[in-house]
Amino acid sequence: MLVLPRLADPGDRARTVRVALAVCAGLDALVVVGAAVFGPQLAALIGGAQYAGADLPMWRFALVGSLLALVQILLFSRIAHGDRRSAALIWLAVVAEVALVAGGLRWGVGSVVAAAVIATGLLALAGLRSRRGALSAGTTRIVSGPTRAAGRFAGMSFDEVRRDWTLLGERDPLWAVYVAPGTRGGRWDVEEFLALGRSDVAATRSWLAELGRPTSWTRALDFGCGAGRLSQALAEHADSVVGVDVSAPMLATARSLDRSGGRCDFVLNEAPDLRRFADGEFDLVYTALVLQHLPADVVEGYLAEFVRVLAPGGTAVLHCSTSPLWTVKGMIWRFAPARLIGLGQRLFLRYPAPMRMTAMPQRRVVDLIRAAGGSVEAIQSVDDRSTHWRLSTYVITRP
Ligand SMILES: C[S@@+](CC[C@H](N)C(=O)[O-])C[C@H]1O[C@@H](n2cnc3c(N)ncnc32)[C@H](O)[C@@H]1O
Repeated sequence: MLVLPRLADPGDRARTVRVALAVCAGLDALVVVGAAVFGPQLAALIGGAQYAGADLPMWRFALVGSLLALVQILLFSRIAHGDRRSAALIWLAVVAEVALVAGGLRWGVGSVVAAAVIATGLLALAGLRSRRGALSAGTTRIVSGPTRAAGRFAGMSFDEVRRDWTLLGERDPLWAVYVAPGTRGGRWDVEEFLALGRSDVAATRSWLAELGRPTSWTRALDFGCGAGRLSQALAEHADSVVGVDVSAPMLATARSLDRSGGRCDFVLNEAPDLRRFADGEFDLVYTALVLQHLPADVVEGYLAEFVRVLAPGGTAVLHCSTSPLWTVKGMIWRFAPARLIGLGQRLFLRYPAPMRMTAMPQRRVVDLIRAAGGSVEAIQSVDDRSTHWRLSTYVITRP
C-alpha cells in the first residue's frame, strides 16, 4: 500500500524498490527466525488446539511467504516499469510454482515446502536480476544497468565530432541528418524531409499534452538543429526558435531551407557548453538525434546546460541513446572499438565521416538532470531496429 503509489513515480522508483526490498527482507528475517524458534507455539496459535504438538516445518513455510513478498515487490516494480517481458516471465514462474506445489501434494509436507522454497527463491533471483540497475519511468520499458556512460568512446574528442559533422554537412546534409533508404547523394525530397520534422514535433506535442505540459512556446532552443528539420516545425508553435549547431555547412543548409518567416535564427556554437545563452532564456529546449553522437563527457556537460538555460516552469525534450540492442549489429556496437566501427562505416558503407554512437544509461541521465536542478517528468524508450539501439526521450522540467 505504501510502496505502490511511489512505484508510479519514475524518478523515485529505483530508490523505492531498494528501500522496500530492504525493509521487507528485514521483516522476513524476523518472521523466519521467529518461526524457527517458536514453530510449535505458532502452529498452535494460528491453527488452534488441533495443531498443538504437530510437527510442521514452520520456518520453511515462513521462508516461502517471505520470498513471495520480495517477489511481489519486484513484480509490481516491473509492471510499473512497463516491462511486460519480465512481468510475463515472473507470472510464468508463479504458474510453474503452483503446478510444482500442487503436483507435489503426494509428497510429504517437507518436500512440498522445499520445492516451494526453491521455486520462490529462483523467482526472487530472476526478479532481482531483471531489476538490477533498473530505473523506470513513465512509459519507459527497459533500462540499462550501469550508472556510468559507456567509456569505450572516451577516445573520441569534441573536436573530432565537430570535424566529422562539418564534413557530413558539406557532403550530404539531409541524408546525414536523417539516414533513410534511397535518400543518399542529395536525394531527400525537401518537402518530405520537412514533413517528417512536423510529424516528429506533432508526436512530441501530443505526448506533452498528455503530460499536462505546454504545447506552444515563447522562445525555443533546437539544439543540434542540423538542416532545421525540427526548428521549422517548432516555429509553427513558438514565437521564436534558436537553432544551434556545431556544423557551419549544416546551418547554411538550414538557412537556405528556412520558411519560418523570420522566426528561426540559426547559430553556430563550437563550444562544448551553451555559455552564449543566459540562464532561463528558453521555455522549451529540444534536441533529437544529436546527443547520441557525442562523447559521454560532452553529453553530460550539455545536460546540465540544458537545465540552466531552461526557464522556471519550462520544458526540455531530450533524446539520447541508452544502449545497443542484443542483436548481431547491436553486439558490434557494444563490443567493437569505436574506431573500428568508424573505419567500417567509411570503408564499407562509404560514409563521408563516421557517425558514432554513445551509450548513456537512463539512470545516469536522471542523476545528472537532478544534480543540475531539473526534474524528470517522463521517459519513453524504443528499441530501434534500424539503428540497433535502445533510444530514450526524456521530458524534463525546471521547477
Ligand atoms: C543527426 S543530425 C540531427 C539534426 C536535427 N536535430 C534533426 O533531427 O533534424 C545531428 C546534428 O547534431 C549536430 N551536432 C553534433 N554535435 C553538436 C554539438 N556539440 N553542438 C551542436 N550541434 C551538434 C550535427 O552537426 C548535426 O547537425
